[in-house]
Amino acid sequence: MTYLDFIEIKNLHFEYVNGRPIFNNLSLRIRMDEVTALLGSNGSGKTTLGKLIMGILRPIRGQVLISNRDNSKMTLAEIGSKIGYLFQNPEKHFFCNTVEEELGFALKFNGCEEAFIKNRVEGLLKEFHLEGLRESFPLLLSQGEKRRLAIATILINEPEYMILDEPTNGLDFERKRILVGVLRELTEKGVGMTIISHDHSFIEEIAHRKIEIHRGEIIYDQRI
Ligand SMILES: Nc1ncnc2c1ncn2[C@@H]1O[C@H](COP(=O)(O)OP(=O)(O)OP(=O)(O)O)[C@@H](O)[C@H]1O
Ligand SMILES: [Mg+2]
Repeated sequence: MTYLDFIEIKNLHFEYVNGRPIFNNLSLRIRMDEVTALLGSNGSGKTTLGKLIMGILRPIRGQVLISNRDNSKMTLAEIGSKIGYLFQNPEKHFFCNTVEEELGFALKFNGCEEAFIKNRVEGLLKEFHLEGLRESFPLLLSQGEKRRLAIATILINEPEYMILDEPTNGLDFERKRILVGVLRELTEKGVGMTIISHDHSFIEEIAHRKIEIHRGEIIYDQRI
């Protein structure tokens, strides 16, 4: 039997500076080889939970373990190299002048060879219908184009796991169908993900488990 990796949230307490508790003793275990959907109404704490797992926010009490490692003992870069994170606001991903540069940046930074980078960038431009926009300034793209580019910048790093905060927001029917295909292919290769979403049809198509939170508590947790 192969060894299973988990993200484990243990007795998590969190509040923002204004003092209202967002999570009060939350515990949850997520398999890293499958698709977990995280649902809940606006303000229920979904994005906050994603950021706590990524180490962008730190808990007041409790722990987040990623493959048995306490994430408070990992650097942001270490967590980020293991888990690809899609911000709810895709603009947070962008800092380059063109779509092409934005996509290739991480590989270039990691010292990959030019030909390898070009190959991967071209593949993703094609897959996400961004070929005609390669010279465009990322911040001026449409909402759906920004989301597609942000997802592509995550996939280019081939993460072991992903946390995607509302990946289908702003995507049209056809682009959503393509995204389902791309994500399914990854799950078949063993890449798991947590998908934060309000998009029920998307969730039904891709998720293995559905969790709903309300005011920081789990009110629904079922395999589908
Ligand atoms: N930086 C912050 N400072 C103070 N309060 C915050 C901050 N970020 C979020 N909150 C509050 O924390 C609560 C949870 O927010 P969060 O963004 O996690 O909700 P969400 O479930 O992702 O909602 P949505 O579906 O609208 O994206 C909300 O009440 C929100 O107003
Ligand atoms: Mg959110």
